[in-house]
Amino acid sequence: MIVLGIETSCDETAIGIVRHSIAPNGLARGSILADVIASQTDRHAKFGGVVPELAARAHIEVLTPLIQQALKDAKLSFDDLSAIAATAGPGLIGGVMVGLVMAKAIAMVKNLPFLAINHLEAHALSARLDTQIDYPFLLLLISGGHSALISVRGLGDYHGWGATRDDAVGEAFDKTARLLGLGFPGGAFIEKTAINGCEKKFKLPRPFFGTSHCDFSFAGLKTAVRRIVESDDFNKNPQNIADMAASFQSAIGDCLVERTENALKFHKKLVGTQKPLTIIAAGGVAANQYIRKKLANLAQKHNAKFMAPHPRLCTDNGVMVAWAGAEHLANGRSDLLTAKPRARWDLA
Ligand code: KG4
Ligand code: ZN
Repeated sequence: MIVLGIETSCDETAIGIVRHSIAPNGLARGSILADVIASQTDRHAKFGGVVPELAARAHIEVLTPLIQQALKDAKLSFDDLSAIAATAGPGLIGGVMVGLVMAKAIAMVKNLPFLAINHLEAHALSARLDTQIDYPFLLLLISGGHSALISVRGLGDYHGWGATRDDAVGEAFDKTARLLGLGFPGGAFIEKTAINGCEKKFKLPRPFFGTSHCDFSFAGLKTAVRRIVESDDFNKNPQNIADMAASFQSAIGDCLVERTENALKFHKKLVGTQKPLTIIAAGGVAANQYIRKKLANLAQKHNAKFMAPHPRLCTDNGVMVAWAGAEHLANGRSDLLTAKPRARWDLA
């Protein structure tokens, strides 16, 4: 099966084409035939965040040539495809509409099955594409718009344990990066800057530390950084900036590890102890090597396997949408062309 996926829910216009097959061990496996992306980061950078109307217009400008480019890269035509998938939400509604309408139009003209994909589910399943992973697994979804801990028992079978009560993790990274005068989006800049910093330099809060639930909160941490950075005592020299980036990243890492450890207890009860334990991190923040390492240590402590998709597949891309479409298609699903774009769409 070959599926083309369209992603337009935020500020990346992205097209992926994947081949889905079943390996001799019975697990799904995928190969990437095309992966093209047009980032709008530069257009939004001067506003310090994504401007929805600008994003939707930019998607319209580049979508058709990007699809043509993806087909060319894969040396395929529309006639070679088994289905078309597009993100139908959650996301910025204007952008979601652009991708969804395009997918529906291609499906209608080429008489192809159509799949309306939940963007969070696409992140959730992305690790199964490049590393063969069986269900169940505990998913730590950490992106610019979402932070959640979810037991994934099978395709479409999700049980949520906790989510953020205020900012998403990626949002906290972006806002802190802005405070420190680093670039946008801020996650990768903080990671790079933190390499030269001392994580013990600034004492920052770890919200909810010591509690047994699985919810997150990052607003207080961000405010604590703001208080220090905006105080007269804080000299914005490169070393202090690096120390603050490292201290912030360390606080985030501790919170993620502690919440994930809590969720692991619930997850074990849900799926039973006879199944191998797997923790998967996905979403843009999962590209962060420091956080990946902390989560890998946690997994080791619990005799669990830790996996995260290739960093390239952690941030938004079209491949994960194509892959989620392929997984559903293989499971016998296709959607009606009346599927609606959704600004909000919870996974669990
Ligand atoms: O998954 P994603 O591309 O988009 C959403 O669905 O939200 O995630 C984007 C978020 C941004 O907030 C960005 O700062 C963060 O992921 N991010 C990172 C890193 N790379 C991207 N955060 C921490 N470290 C990184 N290396
Ligand atoms: Zn995303």
